[in-house]
Amino acid sequence: MPIRAVAYASEAIREIAADGLGQTEGKLCAIVDDAARFNRNAGVTGVLLFDGEHFLQYLEGPEDGLSVAYSRVIGASSHTGLVELQRGRVGHRRLPFWPMRWLPAELHELGRIAEADWTDFAQGERTAEQGPSGMDLLMGAVKQQVAAI
Ligand SMILES: Cc1cc2nc3c(=O)[nH]c(=O)nc-3n(C[C@H](O)[C@H](O)[C@H](O)COP(=O)(O)O)c2cc1C
Repeated sequence: MPIRAVAYASEAIREIAADGLGQTEGKLCAIVDDAARFNRNAGVTGVLLFDGEHFLQYLEGPEDGLSVAYSRVIGASSHTGLVELQRGRVGHRRLPFWPMRWLPAELHELGRIAEADWTDFAQGERTAEQGPSGMDLLMGAVKQQVAAI
């Protein structure tokens, strides 16, 4: 079954930003629990990076499930200023591990990922001159948090 993916960046509303990083309760956890519940049924997996103010999310899954999950994201009032970085087909899942999981990231790190090249979801295919792709940086940030993958 073809797998599609989407990556976007957005800004958390004040109520979430005020919760701070590392908080185990609060609105962010409720959002991620709700997202994971939906995604599990829809066959969607991915990750949500959060620096205390901004989100950068990567979602992948079958087209029908992914498009409903992404419309739920677009319709959510807990963030604003959503900017789609890339949407399209991927050859295989990059993050099959979690129906959804949030991971902390540094402020400058999220900015760097969002501003990187998101022409496609290519990974590890670039010259030193080109520098890392958005997907390279996203995977690097995830691996930094979760050493096992
Ligand atoms: C940053 C963020 C990421 C989300 N990720 C997903 C997701 O992966 N799948 C999904 O079905 N819904 C996702 N949602 C939607 C939430 O699960 C939830 O339905 C929504 O946030 C609740 O509405 P509200 O934000 O208007 O209170 C996301 C919402 C936000 C704000």
